[in-house]
Amino acid sequence: MADSNIEELQRIRALSQQGGGEERIKKHKAAGKMTAHERIDLLLDKGSFREIDAFVMHRETNFGMWDRRIPGDSVVTGWGTIDGRLVYVFSQDFTVFGGSLSMVHAEKVCKIMDMAMRNGAPIIGLNDSGGARIQEGVVSLGGYADIFLRNTLASGVVPQISAIMGPCAGGAVYSPALTDYIFMVKNTSHMFITGPDVVKAVTGEDVTFEELGGAITHSSVSGVAHLATESEADCLYLIRELLSYLPSNNMEDPPFRSSSDDALRTEAALDTLVPDNPNKPYDIKDAIRLIVDNSNFYEIQPDYAQNIVVGYARLGGFPVGIVANQPMVLAGVLDINASEKAGRFVRFCDSFNIPLIVFEDVPGFLPGVDQEHGGIIRHGAKLLYAFCEATVPKITVVTRKAYGGAYCVMNSKHIRADLNLAWPTAEIAVMGAEGAVNIIFRRELAEADDPVARRNELVEEYSERFANPYAAARHGYVDDVIEPNQTRPRLINALNMLQNKRDNNPPKKHGNIPL
Ligand code: HXC
Repeated sequence: MADSNIEELQRIRALSQQGGGEERIKKHKAAGKMTAHERIDLLLDKGSFREIDAFVMHRETNFGMWDRRIPGDSVVTGWGTIDGRLVYVFSQDFTVFGGSLSMVHAEKVCKIMDMAMRNGAPIIGLNDSGGARIQEGVVSLGGYADIFLRNTLASGVVPQISAIMGPCAGGAVYSPALTDYIFMVKNTSHMFITGPDVVKAVTGEDVTFEELGGAITHSSVSGVAHLATESEADCLYLIRELLSYLPSNNMEDPPFRSSSDDALRTEAALDTLVPDNPNKPYDIKDAIRLIVDNSNFYEIQPDYAQNIVVGYARLGGFPVGIVANQPMVLAGVLDINASEKAGRFVRFCDSFNIPLIVFEDVPGFLPGVDQEHGGIIRHGAKLLYAFCEATVPKITVVTRKAYGGAYCVMNSKHIRADLNLAWPTAEIAVMGAEGAVNIIFRRELAEADDPVARRNELVEEYSERFANPYAAARHGYVDDVIEPNQTRPRLINALNMLQNKRDNNPPKKHGNIPL
């Protein structure tokens, strides 16, 4: 082969590698951002990236665009490995036309999405883009729609993860929104349908980029993002860690990792974790950390709807999805945001064969006009639907309250939970003793000589009868009442017992979850 052939190959490849050129790269880095290639290199196992379509160039001739073609255009695509497991990646290059989505950019993304689907591996999108390539008009919009379709078809087949590492605006936000997890980098990433200027023009509201669509806003107020990270490096590291809990596709089991933590470890601190006073809070995350392997808990949406805690951990080496009411926040009540947060998490775990562990301490659904008018009935039903529909191994531990409709919702026996355990501190009833007495003894209390004393008597009687796990256990609604210190070995034993669980839903096109 002539040297000139090799040189030509290397020349074009170098052009592709340098994207928008030195000046733009300098400006990009000055803004605290990594290049598209650097991000991929940090995300994947060292040296594992194989790029494709580095020679693709846009086909636009208007506005002098033909003379401004760069090999690879505004996105880098290919595959590599994370912890030795195959993943597909696209990384938008902001130095090339602001990472904007041309027709060929969309074609490149669609190509690796199709490959990911065929070969059963996760898709990771590193987003940094000014949106539709304005010079290309409607073909760019078509390109987005081509991606949205693939996001939807891939949903529940391979995990899809989006990192937002720059602007992400207009309809472009809908590709990340269709994926399973959205990571945002604090200060340098933004997501919105319309920016602050349009908001000002339409509604008169003054708002900054950060307030409208920054990482903190979306991870704590809107719930659009699942994690807000301090830096791009943190973001990429956390994506790698998330993948360690997930199977590569819906036909695989999640990856087992042998654990140094003793499967039979008991934990005496759990016996005193729940306070004697049922109205006193405690941190359910303390319980989670004491129970799971090596105290490692990967929390999802830690800053949003904090009255429910969701995330991943391992028990005896098996990845599990944990859903837990948090008595520290709003007494662990279920509200609209908590129901949506947990409902989506449960559905993801079920899609990808990840067993569910539920820690339950819930006084019920949050009362209030705002909640009712906001549709708590519909949104609460999402969580109920998600638990009912899930066929993965499902285990519940009632640590304290399991009241009312929330008792049914939180993976009760009736909705196909496989094993329901309760601590002796559990209170499983229609409602708390005080509320119950106020209703069923209203007339008697109104006529009593000493209503306060009579009330106390009745509350005590009700508590003795119902504020315990034994009424439910007598019906078989809890399978066993256990010493809290035994929780870890009992859960690991149950997961082993459920290894070969097979359960199905009736054949249908798809269900109609109350969206
Ligand atoms: C073509 C674009 C572009 C775009 C930016 N550029 N956005 N080129 N199409 N959408 C180019 C700029 O011309 C510039 O080129 C380079 O990218 C960097 O842009 P700057 O403006 O210099 O950077 P910065 O100041 O950091 O601002 C970034 C930005 C801004 C906030 C993203 O560029 C911007 O507002 N762009 C337009 C965003 C937008 O309205 N997009 C369309 C949204 S509608 P040079 O050559 O100077 O380096 C949409 C619909 C999708 O996306 C619908 C899907 C269904």
